[in-house]
Amino acid sequence: MKKILIVYWPERGNVESCAIKIKTAIGQEAKLKSLKQLTDTDLKECDLLVAGCSTVGAETWKDASGENQWSLFLVSETSKFLSGKKVALFGLGDQVSYPNHYVDFMGILKKELERKGALIVGRWPAVGYKFESSEALEGDHFVGLALDEDWQPELTDERISRWVDQLKKEF
Ligand SMILES: Cc1cc2nc3c(=O)[nH]c(=O)nc-3n(C[C@H](O)[C@H](O)[C@H](O)COP(=O)(O)O)c2cc1C
Repeated sequence: MKKILIVYWPERGNVESCAIKIKTAIGQEAKLKSLKQLTDTDLKECDLLVAGCSTVGAETWKDASGENQWSLFLVSETSKFLSGKKVALFGLGDQVSYPNHYVDFMGILKKELERKGALIVGRWPAVGYKFESSEALEGDHFVGLALDEDWQPELTDERISRWVDQLKKEF
């Protein structure tokens, strides 16, 4: 059986609750870990990494606060195991309060993961959202699943269910 690892940061907020929903939607083959708990072995052994993040204002991953474990991970030794790894991204944001930067960090993270050799899967159509611009937008698709628990929480479950179905087919 293929091994799917869901890794998320930050903890205890919308990213964590959506990560738990994604785990439930994928089923038993998925393992769930906060980025802080991630080990070399976890990353080496998984066939698909599902990576979750939120956007809280930083323009680049280097500007992200020291609290952002994704910034620390990207400069860690563990990140070398991203080479050749399939990665699907999901990102939390708020399209009403930040219409010019909706889920920006998902786009920033995607570029950094690709620099480490990761192969990004799980693009998601930008239909049904209302925003002006996003670093996570490529053409008419987001680079991963965009979620908005602030303004469209009622759409989250269905988006996750459809995205997981799509991932299972792509994978
Ligand atoms: C200080 C701050 C800055 C934010 N900046 C952005 C932003 O630039 N773009 C965006 O889409 N959402 C932004 N948000 C909204 C969060 O990404 C959103 O509420 C998300 O669901 C938070 O998830 P978390 O609690 O797991 O971090 C911001 C939220 C805060 C508190």
